[in-house]
Amino acid sequence: MRDKLILVIGVTLAIFLILSHYSEVTDYENIEVHPRNLVKSNEKPQRSSKVINTSSESKPAQSQIAASQRSSPGCDCKSEKSGKHINLCYTDPQNLTSIGKQFDCGHLPILEKLNLVDNPGPFVDFKSTDEISKNIVFVSATSDNHYEQATNSISSVYKMYPNAKFILYSLSLKETCISQLKEKFEKIEVRVFDTSGYPDYTNNWMEYRFKPLIVAEVMKEYEYIWWMDAHISVKTAGLIEAFSKELSENSKKTDTRVQIPIYFFIHSSHSNFATLFKSLLTFFPTNSISLLKDPNRGAQLGANTIFFARTKYTVETVKWWVLCALDQKCMNPPGAQVYCRFPDNDRNTQFANCYRFDQSVLNLLMLNEFQDYKKYHSKLGSYF
Ligand SMILES: *[C@@H]1O[C@H](CO)[C@@H](O)[C@H](O)[C@H]1NC(C)=O
Ligand SMILES: *[C@@H]1O[C@H](CO)[C@@H](O)[C@H](O)[C@H]1NC(C)=O
Repeated sequence: MRDKLILVIGVTLAIFLILSHYSEVTDYENIEVHPRNLVKSNEKPQRSSKVINTSSESKPAQSQIAASQRSSPGCDCKSEKSGKHINLCYTDPQNLTSIGKQFDCGHLPILEKLNLVDNPGPFVDFKSTDEISKNIVFVSATSDNHYEQATNSISSVYKMYPNAKFILYSLSLKETCISQLKEKFEKIEVRVFDTSGYPDYTNNWMEYRFKPLIVAEVMKEYEYIWWMDAHISVKTAGLIEAFSKELSENSKKTDTRVQIPIYFFIHSSHSNFATLFKSLLTFFPTNSISLLKDPNRGAQLGANTIFFARTKYTVETVKWWVLCALDQKCMNPPGAQVYCRFPDNDRNTQFANCYRFDQSVLNLLMLNEFQDYKKYHSKLGSYF
């Protein structure tokens, strides 16, 4: 009887201690997340003494994620769902005082729905890249006018990997095209891209807003995504195996602050600067215009085929990419169009009066972090 009583008291005490620990952690996070809650932190000086180790600020990669979780005047959006304040201003990972313009708070529910805020994981750790071949999903999108190309692209994947998981998003494809595809490719999953939860202009396929949104949708379900534009075909066998090996070797390198989880394959043959509408920098400030012009470090890579592994860094990067896609001007600055004119055949240091939409944005985000395109440029471009 007495033993039982002691046990009950012990268990109660343990539960009490665990609960108070968690509520303290939660409070502590809230104070750190909202430093403007000065009253709260002043009231509890014993907690505010537990400051985040600020020397970690010298590690921009992690601290950029931290920075986006810290509030800052004019950047916070209050979540209806969680009550939390979410910072919708991008911070340059190279300069934590260089902060972009706030994205519209109206987009926050979309981010939450896409798991781009407080993503529950699990995250890829690259310890075993063997699992990639089993878990990867190829993803593409096509409208009627790229139907033939999309068919060739899908064929090329199934030719190499007959059991591949392939999801094709229909951008208003005709019903007959969808049925033909399903007939031709028994295993394909065709999804109609539903823009009803997104702003109206996401329906304009020529602004390429669909790509970040589709990647985010699929990333909710899959850890490894291989994006294929409709006109891209795999030409050489062994792509996934060779890439898994490259990724495994790369992830042993320690010259970046986070492991690189996003890879491009095809060089665009011009710099980031050549296709940069400057207004993009108001959202995503750069630490160096000369880096954006530098053919040795600031080249732009094609967004026609991209590999994504779901890590915290990927979720963070896709979040900004999606926010840009949801913003009318970020993804489609006034005057943006795809036809470039390189003055004096200079493909690097002069503006070519063109824009690469999704590609310009994702490249800028990656270059801001890694400062050298070669780090996220796979050597396997010749497989396509
Ligand atoms: C803060 O972090 C740095 C590097 O991560 C470490 O060397 C240092 O000991 C830490 N300081 C404290 C007080 O935890
Ligand atoms: C960091 O950004 C701030 C604000 O844009 C700027 O004033 C400062 O010069 C930048 N620092 C460096 C080292 O580039």
